[in-house]
Amino acid sequence: MLTHSTTALAHPNIAFIKYWGNRDDRLRLPSNGSISMNLGGLFTRTRVTWAELRVTSNESQEQDSLVINNKPITGVGLSRVSTFLDEVRRMAGIKSRAEVVSENNFPSSAGIASSASAFAALALAACTAAGLELSQAELSRLARRGSGSACRSIPGGFVEWQAGTGDADSFAFSIAPPEHWPLADCIALVSAEHKPTGSTEGHALAATSPLQTARVADAPRRLDLCRRAILNRDFEALAEIAELDSNLMHAVMMTSNPPLFYWQPATLTIMQAVREWRASGLPVCYTIDAGPNVHVITEAAEAERVADLLANMPGVQKVLPAQVGGPVRCDSLHPPSRPLAKKGYNQR
Ligand code: DP6
Repeated sequence: MLTHSTTALAHPNIAFIKYWGNRDDRLRLPSNGSISMNLGGLFTRTRVTWAELRVTSNESQEQDSLVINNKPITGVGLSRVSTFLDEVRRMAGIKSRAEVVSENNFPSSAGIASSASAFAALALAACTAAGLELSQAELSRLARRGSGSACRSIPGGFVEWQAGTGDADSFAFSIAPPEHWPLADCIALVSAEHKPTGSTEGHALAATSPLQTARVADAPRRLDLCRRAILNRDFEALAEIAELDSNLMHAVMMTSNPPLFYWQPATLTIMQAVREWRASGLPVCYTIDAGPNVHVITEAAEAERVADLLANMPGVQKVLPAQVGGPVRCDSLHPPSRPLAKKGYNQR
């Protein structure tokens, strides 16, 4: 008996040790392990409703449907979700089509990768609605198939994705809960003139950089330093390794064929300012994903001060604050029978 409809909520995450490049693009088996922190306060909320299979000659009625932020999505966006749902259908032994309704509480113009929270919430909502009870590791493996970084949004707090030897052992697990270390991420939104190359295309280019082999070979050392910095709550050690890792990934991006330049002039200005602030005693460090925005990591007690400093930098449009977030979860405040609330959405 199918539960039919479930709503789930997941946070995006920011990686301190980055995932860039796959050993297997289809299964999203990464070239190296990664470590991240979930971003509490920012989330994707997704409702999945499995319909009874309708036998009809009208093909469009048999397709999954997808609405993101009240906008119907078709084409590549829908087929990526449908391919993912095919895996859930296979696991659950069902053939029903699904209706997926999803909303982010962070602006899509912010350029914050929403695929991590999107596929983490989709994995939990789709499985629960289909009556599948997966362990956290199984759910993380499944989310990985939708978007690599999504596997890290399944567990809570500080999370490690072990590269693994294959599909079965490439999943993420929590290395420390959110309350272990009250950090914050002040995301400095920088204007992007043109749309950057998406992560999926970028991963496929990683191996064309002569620097990728060295980056991957050194990853176990960086993972070890980062894990220890988190466990010891050693901000200076975290800052050193997170900035090095971000710089290494961008060096690979800039030297791939074709090269990918994600930074804007303001990105570099902020990076330099962050290093100066740290030299003068403020616990801050930067890390940058596949876009021009700068994630400025700090201790929660300093978040307001850091956000103010960033807001006054040239080129910063907005600062989005986030704290350490918990795991993916079913959203009991918004039971499946009720439509997604529009008011009060930003209140957690
Ligand atoms: C730079 O997980 O977005 O943010 O698997 O193709 O969806 P796909 O890629 P994605 O890649 C994330 C890349 C990154 C680094 C990171 O989050 O580790």
